[in-house]
Parts: sequence; structure tokens; C-alpha cells
Amino acid sequence: MRVAVIPGDGIGKEVVSATLPVLEFLSDTLRQDLSYDVFGWGADQWLATGVGLPPGAIKLLTSEYAAVYLGAFGDPRIPDMAHGRDILLGLRRGLDLYVNYRPVILKDRVVDVYRENTQGLYAGVGGSVARAGSVDVAIDECVYTREAVQRFVLFCLRRLRDSGRRRATLVHKANAVPNTGKLWQEVFSGEIAKIPELAGSEEYVDSFCYRFILDQSPYEGVLTSNLLGDIISDIGAALMGGLGLASSASICPETNFALFEPVHGSAPDIAGRGIANPQAAAMSAALMLEHLGHAHASRIFRDCVAEVARSDAATPDLGGHGTTQQFMDMVMRLLERDLEREG
Ligand code: NAI
Ligand code: MG
Repeated sequence: MRVAVIPGDGIGKEVVSATLPVLEFLSDTLRQDLSYDVFGWGADQWLATGVGLPPGAIKLLTSEYAAVYLGAFGDPRIPDMAHGRDILLGLRRGLDLYVNYRPVILKDRVVDVYRENTQGLYAGVGGSVARAGSVDVAIDECVYTREAVQRFVLFCLRRLRDSGRRRATLVHKANAVPNTGKLWQEVFSGEIAKIPELAGSEEYVDSFCYRFILDQSPYEGVLTSNLLGDIISDIGAALMGGLGLASSASICPETNFALFEPVHGSAPDIAGRGIANPQAAAMSAALMLEHLGHAHASRIFRDCVAEVARSDAATPDLGGHGTTQQFMDMVMRLLERDLEREG
């Protein structure tokens, strides 16, 4: 099992490099046969060579690797994030990673948030009219094909059912955005009717956000479109306790290829200080272990990360006094303890 590691920029590099030794340790101890190569795609390379996602990257990834483990992109020297879009959108489209899974991990429950990851307002359809250098008219079209909605909804509902969930909620804005909204409603109600284990419901996004912030208990699985999912998952991160905790997986169900990354960005405001919370990156690595068939290692890893997050070795955003490195060093010690206990 080979993993392509792309640390990226800013704290992306810091949290990924702190997590890799733990992955190596787990791989050695549990004989998981996991190896990785590090790729320096990001702001420095873009500024030096103008290359974001190198030509041939998608072919290389799909032929040599099972997954991508990524930090974050973003650099103050590239204010329009051109390199990040080139790499991230290039990976999403090139690898057809159409399911974005962002678990909202709360004290007593996990809400599975699924975001469609390729179309909607991110389809890249639109244009603008400029006069004397200033934009007068700007259009971004929300585009959804039945095929894209169908494959996404089908995968998410089956996965919810297979993981023992009982409820699925479709979030949309069909009252004000009726065309794509109706397509989503039609597909969702058609597919959920075929899965008796799941009870389906629908909510408008504004009312959903209001209710979700006040009480998460009615929700088990949430399915939504690209932009709405981006926003809802940041609300989820806030409910979890901050961006430093939110993890994600982007999956292509047909090939099983997947990309794992924290939800947060490169955090230039704290980059270079060694205090970024590595939890989101570590939990993303745990999702990767599970995806690659190492459910046991994933569970032990997750438990140890959660234990450190409650300790004084936690980073300042969690109220602790630890650094990124100290956090993961402590995770390593707990793993050694737990694996020794297991023999
Ligand atoms: P951000 O997620 O980088 O930071 C937002 C705030 O949360 C900052 O105050 C930051 O210090 C804090 N924060 C984030 N992650 C943290 C962690 N692990 N530990 C402790 N504190 C953490 O979002 P922002 O500031 O809007 O964007 C910064 C750059 O990152 C921009 O260039 C943006 O385009 C890029 N970005 C990239 C993403 C990606 O690569 N997937 C996602 C989001 C933003
Ligand atoms: Mg976002």
C-alpha cells in the first residue's frame, strides 16, 4: 500500500510532518505494509517554476498509489490561491473524487456530513463582463447532472446503511434555487425509498444550519451539494471545537482511490510557530488507515489522539500548552503503551 504525501504550505507541512512518524510506527508495529513518498507540490514550487499539479501527476498517482495524504495549501505571496486551485481542483477532477466525507465528531455522537465534490457552483461554468478593468457583470452557474447527483446519493445512502445509520437528511435550497434543487429532491426520494433501513428527511439549508447549531441529535447522516457542504462542514468544525479538529476524506467509489486532508487551510497567522493543532491531520490519517483496510490501527490511533487532545499536551487552540510536535510525540507514547498492552 503506497501513499502519496503532499504536505503543501504553511501549517499543512507542520501537521503532516508531525504525523508521518506515527504512521510509520503503526505500519511497522502492525505489519501493515504501508509506505509513502513525499511530493513538494505547493507555493514554493509554483513560484519557482509556475507548476502546480505537474503534468502526468494523475497517471502517476492512480498507477503507483492507493491514496493521497495532504496537508493544506495557501500562501500570502499567492493571494488568489492560483496554485492551490490548480492542485486541489486538479486532483478532485482528475481523480474524480466526487464524495467528500467530513465527519462531525461530537462528544456523544458522530454526524456524517457528505458533500458532493465536483459540480454545483464549483463546476467552473460562468463568466464576467468587465469595463475599464472593473467587473460589471459576474456569473457563476450552479450545474448538476442527474448522473452526478445519482452516483453521489447512492454511494452515501449505502454507506450510511452499511455503517448502521438509521436516518439521512438531504439539505438543499429548492424553494429559491428550484432547478437543481428539484433534481436533488427527486433523486434523493427515489433512492431512499429503495433502502428500508434508512428514514429520509429534507431541510432547507438556512433552517438546517439554525437547527444544527442548536441541537445535533436529530442528525445522523447529512447529504448536500458542493457549496452548501463546504459551509455546513465549517459549522461542524465549530461545533467540534475548532478547525484544528475537522478531518475529511474525498473518495472515488468506482476506483476506491481517496484523498485525506484536514479541513483547515495553511493558517499563515500561526505558521512557523510550531503550535498548529495536528488533530485534524491525524484524524484524516486515521480515516485513511480505515479506508485502506486497517480498521483496528485506525481505532487505536483515533483513541490516542483523542486522549492527548484532552491532556495538557494539547495545543493552545484547545487550551493546552503543547506544540504540534509534543502533541504527536505523546500520541506515539500512548500508542506504544496500548500496543504493548495488546501484545
Ligand atoms: P485557515 O483554516 O488556514 O485558518 C483559519 C483560522 O483557524 C486561523 O486563525 C488559523 O490560525 C486557525 N486554524 C486553522 N487550522 C488550525 C490548526 N490546525 N490549529 C490551530 N489553529 C488553526 O483558513 P484561512 O485563514 O481562511 O485561510 C488561510 C489560507 O489557507 C488561505 O490561503 C486559504 O485560501 C487557504 N485554505 C486552504 C484550504 C485547503 O488547502 N484545503 C482550505 C481552507 C483555506
Ligand atoms: Mg472550506
